[in-house]
Amino acid sequence: MKTILLLGVTLIIALTSRLVQKQAIDDKDFKQRYGPWCVIAGGSDGLGEAYARQFAKRGINLVLISRTKEKLHNTSQAISLQYGVEVRALVGDLFNTRQVIQDLDDMTRDVEVGSLVYNAAYYSVGSYYNQTTNNIQDSIDICIKTPSLMVNSFLNSFKKRGSGGIMIVSSILGLFGTKKLPMYAAVKSFQTVLAKSIWDEAREYGVDVTSPVLGVTSTPASDKVRSLCSPFSEQTPEDAAYESVAHMYSRVGPVINAGWYNKVVSSVLHVMPSSISTQFVWPLILGSC
Ligand SMILES: NC(=O)c1ccc[n+]([C@@H]2O[C@H](COP(=O)([O-])OP(=O)(O)OC[C@H]3O[C@@H](n4cnc5c(N)ncnc54)[C@H](OP(=O)(O)O)[C@@H]3O)[C@@H](O)[C@H]2O)c1
Repeated sequence: MKTILLLGVTLIIALTSRLVQKQAIDDKDFKQRYGPWCVIAGGSDGLGEAYARQFAKRGINLVLISRTKEKLHNTSQAISLQYGVEVRALVGDLFNTRQVIQDLDDMTRDVEVGSLVYNAAYYSVGSYYNQTTNNIQDSIDICIKTPSLMVNSFLNSFKKRGSGGIMIVSSILGLFGTKKLPMYAAVKSFQTVLAKSIWDEAREYGVDVTSPVLGVTSTPASDKVRSLCSPFSEQTPEDAAYESVAHMYSRVGPVINAGWYNKVVSSVLHVMPSSISTQFVWPLILGSC
């Protein structure tokens, strides 16, 4: 009986997710809420670029942050040419919290920012026993320290203007924890819980907060492990980005578990005791990686 109920629930979730994905976005309204400028932290390739394109195609100008100058300039130019929006490139390191926030302030002083996508992260694969002090510090800096301060600052300015959007890109691993990526799973959990915790308060000021909880997505950063992963779990950055922005726009809630496979797997893992689910996360999400 329990199994039938579980299958029914997962089927409903999968069908609903297709409907949410197809939900139309009113581009004019989207631009009003989240424009005229959007900041993408980690925006020069993969998911960051896909998020940037979702905003640019709706007429929103962009500030893209990343470290590699040439890649950042190429992406900025390509997006600007394709969508006719203004794109500013900020070469900065999100591990270096104070400096990057200062540089971002300087670059956006003369424009009105209406949305933030905090996308970049740091992966350090391996047992927790083998993590170095630097690995641990880097995970905290890029996934906790910098986004917490950036989100706080933008939330305050969006509150004043009465609208805005904040997206903190997270991972399904953060919902359950997993071996082999312990720090990554833990900091991703922080990001999702932060989004959940501010969602209700923010919406009172007209600000939409979302944490897309993603599974394996085909990006340059995941290239090293992706070919070994479960073929069902993989999403394209374009699908993941569209589902994320559609969810933020729909104002349904703070978390979107993107992709049908990830929805099904996470509903199954949620009903398992954590002693079992933590062992199944890796094989179900990352296959033989
Ligand atoms: N890909 C997946 O399978 C997957 C699955 C679940 C969740 N996610 C989440 O999705 C988000 C994006 O992941 P991703 O796979 O696209 O790779 P990523 O390495 O997290 O992000 C790539 C983008 O961020 C920039 N970036 C990385 N480190 C940076 C730093 N220290 N300072 C400034 N910019 C930096 C990269 O450019 P530079 O390297 O030139 O700086 C690039 O533009 C992450 O939050 C991740 O946790 C990804």
